[in-house]
Amino acid sequence: MALSGLTARVVYKCAMCGRVLFLEVLFQNCSYLYSMKLPLPIALAQFIVSCSAKPSELTYKEIDYVAYSCMYTLSSTAAWCSSDLYGLSCYCTDDNAMGSFLYCVHEFLETKNPDTVEEWVYPQCANSTVEGLKQIYENSTNYMVNTSEVPGFNISVPVDFPVYVNATMYQYNYMTYNAFWGNLKHANFMGTGAVAYWGLVFLCGTISSMMHRFAPRLTLSLNKKSSQLWIVRWYRKNVSLPAAFGTVHTKRNFALGLLPTRLESLIIFGFFVMVLLFQAVNIKRTMNNTFFPEKVQEISRYVGDRSGVIANYLMTLTYLLAGRNQIFMWLTGWKQSTFMTYHKWVGRFLFLTVFTHTISMLMYTYAEDAYEYYSGSQWWRYGAAATVAGGTMFLQAFSWLREKNYEVFLYVHIAMAIVFLLGAWKHIEIFDYQEWAYATLAIWAFDRVVRLVRIFSFGVKTAKVCIVSNETLQVTVDRGSWWPFFPGAFGYVHFLKTSIFWQSHPFTVCKTDNNELRLYIKIKRGVTEILYKQLLNEPNYTGEVKIAVEGPYGDKKPAKSYEQVLLYSGGNGIPGPYAYAKELGVTANTQKTQFVKLYWVIRHWNSLDWSLEELQALQKYTNIQTVIYVTKAHEVKFGDKLLPHFEPSCSSSSIAEKDSAVAITSAAYNDVLQKVLPHIEFREGRPVISDVVREDIEDCQDKNTALITCGHSDMCDEIRQVIAVKVGDHKTSRIDLFEELQTW
Ligand SMILES: Cc1cc2nc3c(=O)[nH]c(=O)nc-3n(C[C@H](O)[C@H](O)[C@H](O)COP(=O)(O)OP(=O)(O)OC[C@H]3O[C@@H](n4cnc5c(N)ncnc54)[C@H](O)[C@@H]3O)c2cc1C
Ligand SMILES: NC(=O)c1ccc[n+]([C@@H]2O[C@H](COP(=O)([O-])OP(=O)(O)OC[C@H]3O[C@@H](n4cnc5c(N)ncnc54)[C@H](OP(=O)(O)O)[C@@H]3O)[C@@H](O)[C@H]2O)c1
Repeated sequence: MALSGLTARVVYKCAMCGRVLFLEVLFQNCSYLYSMKLPLPIALAQFIVSCSAKPSELTYKEIDYVAYSCMYTLSSTAAWCSSDLYGLSCYCTDDNAMGSFLYCVHEFLETKNPDTVEEWVYPQCANSTVEGLKQIYENSTNYMVNTSEVPGFNISVPVDFPVYVNATMYQYNYMTYNAFWGNLKHANFMGTGAVAYWGLVFLCGTISSMMHRFAPRLTLSLNKKSSQLWIVRWYRKNVSLPAAFGTVHTKRNFALGLLPTRLESLIIFGFFVMVLLFQAVNIKRTMNNTFFPEKVQEISRYVGDRSGVIANYLMTLTYLLAGRNQIFMWLTGWKQSTFMTYHKWVGRFLFLTVFTHTISMLMYTYAEDAYEYYSGSQWWRYGAAATVAGGTMFLQAFSWLREKNYEVFLYVHIAMAIVFLLGAWKHIEIFDYQEWAYATLAIWAFDRVVRLVRIFSFGVKTAKVCIVSNETLQVTVDRGSWWPFFPGAFGYVHFLKTSIFWQSHPFTVCKTDNNELRLYIKIKRGVTEILYKQLLNEPNYTGEVKIAVEGPYGDKKPAKSYEQVLLYSGGNGIPGPYAYAKELGVTANTQKTQFVKLYWVIRHWNSLDWSLEELQALQKYTNIQTVIYVTKAHEVKFGDKLLPHFEPSCSSSSIAEKDSAVAITSAAYNDVLQKVLPHIEFREGRPVISDVVREDIEDCQDKNTALITCGHSDMCDEIRQVIAVKVGDHKTSRIDLFEELQTW
């Protein structure tokens, strides 16, 4: 075995005790430094992500470097006891050993504070006192021996006198410790830097969100002023608003993946560069390294240590970003999908970092010829399990697989996340880094506990569910007295049916005038289809189902402070914009009344049935203009709800007849619409949404305008692009986009 220095001794030691590791030896020496574990009260876990764990390397002072270099040098200079010289046990029981050690530390410690050395030693030696140690030191100065001058000196035979250390050997050891611990120290600073990067990003988001929340008008007027600066307009046009490339953001690309916005992409790219540099810079060979005689040993070890430590920080960050209940979402007011985007990318970088750690540590192990020894240990196996789990998540989270079956993706992902965390925990515990696992677990547990609290506080309620127009499920449930409703609120709904009760799906909620919550659910391929099929067998396609709603989530946008609010919705995206319209509606205009324009793009006339009463309710508002586009109006699919308004000859027609447009003519239908929904303008055909938005913005002139979008992803992406271009040359007012649509 080509082992050397300390490593060789460790392997020797292993033969004796069976289970000692290189790092263990290094770390056990200074175990007193590890007593600084911070308690992690669960509720505060999220505040202390970056400072919850205090790595021992960061607490090392000059005296630690000198003391361990002395110990290490003495271990190759002389022996006093049969026990090892790696810990202080021999020094604590043998005055000559202690004298040699104290002499060495006094000689090389540059801080000439005579008390420091003894004060450093005495907590580690039972029954010792600072005075006693000082006496040992004073005494030994009279008897110091240079072993090179002792004829026939045999290092393995214990001696009964204090010895000098070889100054050159000491320097080599000192430099070696410095490089080794220095690398760990840097790794911790870099990990903290990586967390701080996100802290800074969130801080910017928090400031902006808090200003909007607590001083909306002032913020708006500042923003309006800033829009007159070309640099701000340039930034908004080219950085903060557009999609990363072209127009695609909420729409899935060819691989069914999603591209972040340009600003999000830049943030992610900046982080990527940072993490890459952190793992590559300042990794160099130390001359005369006494731990690692070969370059490959030293470099692979440094890369492995660096990436291992940084991975701890990224792990906590990744789990934090995945949560539904995390403080930064509330502080920034950003959408969950934004955090999901960051979660995905930080998670990917985490895996690549773990992979780097694994490969470099494997190289190190082979270079040390210690594969058999290390691979048999528990910490190694746990680490391997975590790497495999991380790799599985890395692959299975790719959109293509995720989109195949979201539920399968989710359960595999959660199972792997548990394996990863447990594996990482057990792996890092031996190196005393377990606080990161605690912090991660605390963050995860916090989220799950809050989720349960939210579910239980809503309780189990019976909801009325019906199929409307054969395309949407309308769910109505009692809100209870306390459920805080606000426009844009959404909840995760559990349908408590045996086969699907554990599934939790997000849906936007509306509030009816009877204090009920109402959801409009598009029938897709999963849980929504299961419900749909069951309802097909119920009379009038209406049934009851027990549900629990976890929520509310979401962030209410400061639409109230804008002079003009444009709401663009399509299909099942209507609940959010509708709730905003209702909240902003007034029954008598004044000079300061906001202008609200609500668009709803639907495919067929029968979609009006989902929310006919809600649309009628808008009539009383004098400041709301509603426009409904019916893109496939020519297919003349009419709904049931308007039937009573037709003349008897028409209203007697069956649904089948109506669907085939036999009995009701478009003209008759239009007449009825004019009667029932006179306040709404109907337009047939598909809007060129970019033209519509462009015209609306041109009309707004010098009015501050908020645009809220929720609909088909194509539509939302088109609107985003138009706004990005428009804000580039619009100086007279502030135009802000709030995209409600969330996809992940
Ligand atoms: C904040 C938010 C609010 C929403 N509000 C509404 C609404 O008011 N009305 C409406 O019809 N739809 C809404 N959706 C979309 C809705 O959540 C999905 O359509 C629904 O979960 C699909 O269920 P499924 O099992 O039938 O889906 P599937 O047919 O299995 O999948 C269809 C799509 O839904 C996504 N999806 C499936 N399950 C989930 C889940 N648990 N979480 C996130 N995405 C999932 C899949 O990635 C896939 O793209 C909202 C989504 C979000 C994120
Ligand atoms: N907060 C949220 O994230 C949230 C909230 C509610 C709903 N949702 C989800 O959002 C989606 C809403 O869309 P949907 O599926 O209900 O829509 P959809 O039925 O596919 O489309 C609705 C209408 O929009 C039209 N349309 C589509 N793209 C357009 C474009 N670029 N320009 C103009 N018109 C366009 C369609 O016209 P054509 O007939 O020509 O196709 C159709 O008439 C649903 O998947 C729903 O689950 C999300």
